[in-house]
Amino acid sequence: MTTVILLSIVDESSVTVQLAFCQEQPKVNSLAKLEEPKGLTKYLGRRIAQPMGYSHRNWLSRPERIQEENPQEMLEQLNLKDGLVVCDLGSGDGYHTVQMSPRVGPTGKVVAVDIQPQMLQALSRRLAEMKLENVDTVLGELWDPKLQEKSVDLVLMVDVYHEFSHPVQMLSALRKALKPNGLIALVEFRAEDPTVLIRAEHKMTKAQILKEYTANGFKVAKEYDRLPWQHLMFMQRDESWDDQK
Ligand SMILES: C[S@@+](CC[C@H](N)C(=O)[O-])C[C@H]1O[C@@H](n2cnc3c(N)ncnc32)[C@H](O)[C@@H]1O
Repeated sequence: MTTVILLSIVDESSVTVQLAFCQEQPKVNSLAKLEEPKGLTKYLGRRIAQPMGYSHRNWLSRPERIQEENPQEMLEQLNLKDGLVVCDLGSGDGYHTVQMSPRVGPTGKVVAVDIQPQMLQALSRRLAEMKLENVDTVLGELWDPKLQEKSVDLVLMVDVYHEFSHPVQMLSALRKALKPNGLIALVEFRAEDPTVLIRAEHKMTKAQILKEYTANGFKVAKEYDRLPWQHLMFMQRDESWDDQK
């Protein structure tokens, strides 16, 4: 009879892994494969914010959002059309997902990605209530949105990017996931403006956004500067970047 022993160990990076040893197959795969890439607390001079926990999700539906963010105007700028594949990255419980779903129609799709399963469960309940059927929910990793290569026309990130503990890996994955003319629509609270009443590490300046995105192979496609509190910047792949490296 085959004996299987489960052994929990803590490796050097304090990641608990379970290894299954089996008498017939004593070889164990390299631990390196199981390790998470190391997360950052600062990136290019910016302090990275902690992800907003599920227990605070009511904040995402606060009525003041309409005045502070004008989400309808933001959505208009995305120019959504039937048949597009749109990723709502860091969807939370789907405040924007449910608005985008009807705009891409039954031939299009919204892929809602978040790292917190509870956020996605709340979104799934919302989708069932609203009978929206063109949305896939995807549980991402801190360093990987789990998107297929060249699969997405537009990636929307509203109040999300500044939380990425692995900005380099995430931007690299997005470069791969975008279709050739695909765009990122990046929405971040304006750090240049002291009247925007949001904690400092949850805001970004345009200069900082540009620094981080150009360092990772993106360039600005267009900008919209008329949202009440936020930058809306559209980024596209900078094809010359691979040659420059
Ligand atoms: C402030 S909430 C914004 C939610 C939503 N975009 C909205 O505007 O209502 C940020 C969300 O980003 C998610 N998040 C943080 N890091 C992430 C990552 N690496 N990949 C996917 N989601 C992430 C968090 O779990 C959280 O649900």
